[in-house]
Amino acid sequence: MNQKYLSTRVVNLKPSGIRKFFDIVATMQDVISLGIGEPDFDTPSPILQAGIRSLQQGQTHYTSNSGRMGLREALSRHLYRSYEVEYDPASEIIISVGVSEALYLAMTALLNPGDEVIVPTPCFVAYQAEVILAGGVAVELPTYAADCFQLRPEALEAAITPRTKAILLGYPNNPTGAVASREALLAVAHIAEKHDLVVVSDELYDQLVYGVSHVCFAALPGMRQRTILLGGFSKNYAMTGWRIGYASGPVELIKGMLRVHQYTIMSAPTTAQDAALEALLNGQPHVEEMRQEYNRRRQLIVGGLNQLGLVTVEPHGAFYAFPSIGVTGLDEDTFAHKLLEEERVAVVPGTAFGPGGEGYVRCSYATAYEKIEEALCRLERFTQRYG
Ligand SMILES: Cc1ncc(COP(=O)(O)O)c(C=O)c1O
Repeated sequence: MNQKYLSTRVVNLKPSGIRKFFDIVATMQDVISLGIGEPDFDTPSPILQAGIRSLQQGQTHYTSNSGRMGLREALSRHLYRSYEVEYDPASEIIISVGVSEALYLAMTALLNPGDEVIVPTPCFVAYQAEVILAGGVAVELPTYAADCFQLRPEALEAAITPRTKAILLGYPNNPTGAVASREALLAVAHIAEKHDLVVVSDELYDQLVYGVSHVCFAALPGMRQRTILLGGFSKNYAMTGWRIGYASGPVELIKGMLRVHQYTIMSAPTTAQDAALEALLNGQPHVEEMRQEYNRRRQLIVGGLNQLGLVTVEPHGAFYAFPSIGVTGLDEDTFAHKLLEEERVAVVPGTAFGPGGEGYVRCSYATAYEKIEEALCRLERFTQRYG
């Protein structure tokens, strides 16, 4: 069939930089992948069992559009306990098919054609695409290693135009591992208030932080009323394949998102919702166990990369390190391709995550400790050749 039948919006979407690269990786043997963006742990057994039980008990039907009430109530308690931010489970929370769907709902509900969304980069690969699919314009705002990948308030304010509708934040950050400081977020809050903007805050990795606290944007003074908080189960609970996320926010915004959700998705998978409830009720010790193991690997990889001259700002969240590859004299694409061909180590070129990624690669440490050790040996050989 001819591409002429496709909408301009879709034709103009760039294929993900990660996909292209991993299509090549998939054809190769003996590769150590530091490219993976998901936990290497399987879903903890009690959560798995809850999913199996749900099926065995015949829970094979739709749930309410917003998701199971029990899950929304548990989430509401969880968010209050964690951040002292209150959401009415009846009207201010939607259970979605991952944060991916929640992002789509937020953008579709908020944007008129041509509305602008400020997207700090480097960021998760779907952010710009979600804005474009909803008819909006993604205004990219690079952050820099020199600022530990924190937003510069003056740069943020300078990017605002009369068409700006929202700011899309993603902390803890994929790909840099940056956790936004309270101070940086307060500056964003001040700007959002001054210019009457909505803040969509993707906090999917909120429980995977190391030595710092995660600040929930909606919990900042005055922000609950202008924030759509997105979160989920994929990363914290090692549940990527279950496809459960959520959005919480002021009733009118959630109502708008629900209108889109009810006609596109109907309801998130029932089995997965039941498993997610178990994760909230009894999953915490498992999250802590995985977090500690990520932290051990994080120390190994960050120390190792810095020793090789691949300067890495200490990442305090998620499971990614974002080293500069300047010392090799290679650009990020050449670095990634040569490292794969010559040493069988996969990393993702930083530019896959937008402006600010030039001269960097993303290394995920959601892989076994011993594999990271071996990857560092291979990287040492590589940097000796290109040092
Ligand atoms: C920052 C960020 N947001 C959202 C997603 C998508 O998550 P989900 O599996 O909940 O759709 C990812 C996945 O890598 C991510 O890194």
